[in-house]
Amino acid sequence: MVKKEMSKSPNGKRKEEHLLITLNQDVSFKKINAGFEGYSFIHQALPEIDLDEIDLSTQVFGKKLNLPLMISPMVGGISAAEEINMNLAKVSQICGIAMGVGSQRTGIENAASQKTYQVRKVAPEILLFANLGAVQLNYGFSINECQKAVNMIDADGLIIHLNPLQEAFQPEGNCNFKNLAAKIEDICRNLHHPVIVREVGFGISKETTLKLIQAGVSGIDTGGAGGTSWIEVEKYRTESKIIKNVAESFSDWGIPTSESIKMIKEAVSSSKGKNKNTDNKIVIFASGGIRSGLDAAKAIALGADIAAIGLPVLKNIQVSVNSCADYIKEIETGLKIAMFGIGAHNINELKNTRYLKTKV
Ligand SMILES: Cc1cc2nc3c(=O)[nH]c(=O)nc-3n(C[C@H](O)[C@H](O)[C@H](O)COP(=O)(O)O)c2cc1C
Repeated sequence: MVKKEMSKSPNGKRKEEHLLITLNQDVSFKKINAGFEGYSFIHQALPEIDLDEIDLSTQVFGKKLNLPLMISPMVGGISAAEEINMNLAKVSQICGIAMGVGSQRTGIENAASQKTYQVRKVAPEILLFANLGAVQLNYGFSINECQKAVNMIDADGLIIHLNPLQEAFQPEGNCNFKNLAAKIEDICRNLHHPVIVREVGFGISKETTLKLIQAGVSGIDTGGAGGTSWIEVEKYRTESKIIKNVAESFSDWGIPTSESIKMIKEAVSSSKGKNKNTDNKIVIFASGGIRSGLDAAKAIALGADIAAIGLPVLKNIQVSVNSCADYIKEIETGLKIAMFGIGAHNINELKNTRYLKTKV
């Protein structure tokens, strides 16, 4: 059970408030869905496959996953985070899925908090990602801090998050987002690990994808709208009536996750062969409002390589490691049955299926 025990640093205090609010309040988008309800698979009554032979495994950045799923980056740096991250990592190790830790800004600024991110001892094999906010590149961070974040947790790659709207709704937000594409390019060129760029809940457009491809990223995560909304979170945090009212008027802001997957896929396809950075395959992550194995199946059929889930996993880990592993099993089962229903033997066949249709 997460208890209120106010951290001394402003960054830690904010992180504690985010954790308590997201666990205890309804912070889902009120006017936007991730959009998966707009799609359905065409049922194949003669799938001609054996359910038990369906292979959900996939390979991402050289590591094998038992299923194409990641626990989205969430916590770190505050006292409650150590147990949460350790337990999330145990689930990842048991289930054979990937995991990201929350922003490591606190870990860089305060060495004592580094242990709250260091999960390798319980999850030696998982695909593990470090995490930092891109905007910190305008507030003193550079390649050194990025490499430190990766080394701190022995990560397989670095996830850089983009969160302009989240920062704009925070009273203490860092809102200078100038020249970040060039700085991300510098990180991609100099970090000895893959760089993945993501949104935290408002989606990645086609235009942003094209800039990220130019910058040389190895992966892009939709972080789309329709799941956890940071505008809803900040509405609970702020005491400013002005910010509350403005937040209310932004309740339909953001690119639904399903739309964002299509935009990223289109941009990646259209730029293939046009510049040196697209010679390598760009891994597409789908996150934001993924709530079932069927949502994950639709995300992959729309073009994602891997799906990711945040808040529902965080809520389940509050119960126990077993409860959270059961939740992942539920996602896995839904994904597998969806593949059975369209006769897809493996993830590659799901990705290339002809059977995903827009509902009329
Ligand atoms: C408590 C909490 C903290 C988060 N912190 C981070 C973070 O530090 N870095 C990041 O990239 N995303 C962060 N996120 C965003 C999630 O990774 C994810 O994008 C978001 O929750 C939407 O996914 P969902 O709808 O499945 O919850 C956080 C989410 C939650 C709930």
